[in-house]
Amino acid sequence: MAGSSPAMTAELHARHSPVPDVVSQYSAMLASAGPPNESPTLTPELHQKLTAWRRHLHAHPELSLQEKATAAFVQEKLTELGIPFEAGVGGHGIVATLTRGSAQGRVGLRADMDALPITEDTGLPYASNNPGVMHACGHDGHTASLLGAAALLANDPSWSGTVDFIFQPAEEGYGGSRAMVAAGLFERFPMDQVFGFHNWPGLQAGTIAVHDGVVMASGGRITITIEGHAGHAGMPHLTRDPVMAAGHLIVALQSVVSRSVDPLDTAVLSLCTIEGGTAPNQIAGRVTIRGTLRFHREGTKDIILGGIERTCAGIATSFGVKVSPEIVMGVGVVINTPAEAALASIAAEKVRAEVRRDLAPSMAGEDFAHYLQQRPGAFVWIGNGELRDGAELHGPRYDFNDAILPVASSWMAEVARTALNAN
Ligand code: NI
Repeated sequence: MAGSSPAMTAELHARHSPVPDVVSQYSAMLASAGPPNESPTLTPELHQKLTAWRRHLHAHPELSLQEKATAAFVQEKLTELGIPFEAGVGGHGIVATLTRGSAQGRVGLRADMDALPITEDTGLPYASNNPGVMHACGHDGHTASLLGAAALLANDPSWSGTVDFIFQPAEEGYGGSRAMVAAGLFERFPMDQVFGFHNWPGLQAGTIAVHDGVVMASGGRITITIEGHAGHAGMPHLTRDPVMAAGHLIVALQSVVSRSVDPLDTAVLSLCTIEGGTAPNQIAGRVTIRGTLRFHREGTKDIILGGIERTCAGIATSFGVKVSPEIVMGVGVVINTPAEAALASIAAEKVRAEVRRDLAPSMAGEDFAHYLQQRPGAFVWIGNGELRDGAELHGPRYDFNDAILPVASSWMAEVARTALNAN
């Protein structure tokens, strides 16, 4: 990605600089949002505090499995809020717990904390201080929002039951949810349901999208190694050419989705890198191809994996090379359970957010899927506002929109209250 134009940088500065601007932007959103909610909502003071916390996290991003300072920051804020917690749950994971009244219901709310190996190009005053590492997916905002939800529920006498606040490390492909579940998350904190959200650039700021069923894709990382026999480029008959075999393989693999998967189903197989050879006059000995596959139904996985196996075996036979596919699967499809999707939607209406129930699922993945394999729950998208060039999720000019902190925190608090009341 190229550097930002001066106009783009100025625009980003204008959007983000003073905290009060963000507060007035949210006040305008509230004013146009209909009758007030009786549950406590975020005060301007708490919004300013969360904005400052979010920007601190943004300036100090840490990669997956390395979220030590982030976890310490979260613990410090939980201590300030007077909320008890357990740290070191599945690595740098933290679970804070609030219990009120005598109701038995127990609900989990989750945020992720890790950043990405991306060089930030926003020019923001609170841009990353950690070169090559960036909060380019808004997990800084998710963490601040969950702290906000904890603050709201801690100061609200109107609910009864238990709420667990899950601060998860290593979401970006490093098994954070798996590690927390393996560390006994649902045994030590026996939640009945679990909820979470992801900010969504391109969706109007503060709008909450709730899906019935599939929300996000499952996927896997593909590595295919082709081993041939290296030799002189002028004497190909003495070699087994893995580069030519790779060319045929790449084209043939594109028939797996188009010819084997039901056209009404959804799947993607993208081959994204290819490496092989060192000299223009030597036929290479080995080629490595890497890519990703994505799908929305677990049954589709076997169709694609079968297609990859068959195609690799066929190319190996045809060209006399060895073709070895290795596929590492992700955690699964993010699928909302019907009752919890309804609760998520009711909570969104209660906090006066605009609710969308008509959005198509995404082919991006989320390891929240692993929680939904253990407990009923729902994962929603909260609009981050206009999609700008380079400011999409994982883009170098992305930034979490602080104006949505109130709706995100309020929705999380409200979905817990609504779910506990429904029990
Ligand atoms: Ni993310």
